[in-house]
Amino acid sequence: MQISLARQVALITGASSGIGHAAAKALAAAGAAVVINYNRQAEPAEALARQIIADGGQAIAIGADVSKEDEVERLFAQTLEAFGSLDILVANSGLQKDAAAVDMTLDDWNAVIGVNLTGQFLCARAALRIFNRQGVREGVSRAAGKIIHMSSVHQRIPWAGHVNYAASKGGVDQLMQTLAQEVSHQRIRINGIAPGAIRTAINEEATEGAAGEKLLELIPYGRIGDVDDVANAVVFLASDAADYIVGTTLFIDGGMSLYPEFRGNG
Ligand code: BGC
Repeated sequence: MQISLARQVALITGASSGIGHAAAKALAAAGAAVVINYNRQAEPAEALARQIIADGGQAIAIGADVSKEDEVERLFAQTLEAFGSLDILVANSGLQKDAAAVDMTLDDWNAVIGVNLTGQFLCARAALRIFNRQGVREGVSRAAGKIIHMSSVHQRIPWAGHVNYAASKGGVDQLMQTLAQEVSHQRIRINGIAPGAIRTAINEEATEGAAGEKLLELIPYGRIGDVDDVANAVVFLASDAADYIVGTTLFIDGGMSLYPEFRGNG
């Protein structure tokens, strides 16, 4: 299977680090022009853009807080100014602010819902408006646009101490499915990815040393995931190789969502 995203434009939110960073890199390697969105960390996003351009690709880094409507509108307008079209949105920005429910502040609830759920809605809405205007770009892709919503195994697995995060990802699942039901007839493909434990700079503490060993008890496949495990799936879902995949979530979790604690128990 040969995948080329040549002549396509991809916008990846939250791409200054972790899964978003790897996804931007992989989409660029597949030939897409990429918009590397960041919120606070401009430098790693700009460094990635420079690297992609040095390798012969097309990239731009654009700062915007996806939980703010005016910033999202500006992000998409700047994307069109830079590259003239949009074919792929990876709605990836996400954060965690963990606390027991009894101690969780409304600010921490709102911050997580604001980025993880409202941010994905605002970006999807902006992308859909562009896809509707563009229609299918003949010879570029069979679809009029593709959206990939970055979810989590916690769209399915309840997670004590993380009620804001789990609720946001449960919401992402219905956001993705409802949008897919609403717009598939316009040849727009919307899907989700639900990563499990993926090694990134942000969750180093939970994935290294003794904590990492303990985490492995939850992963039947016996290893913690790498960002490229997810980035490869982003490229596939964004490509015409996945043209008949609509409204589904791909779990990339080494079997975490199989409830491994029930093996030989229950
Ligand atoms: C979270 C990680 C966590 C994983 C499995 C992900 O959604 O971002 O911090 O390790 O779920 O629990």
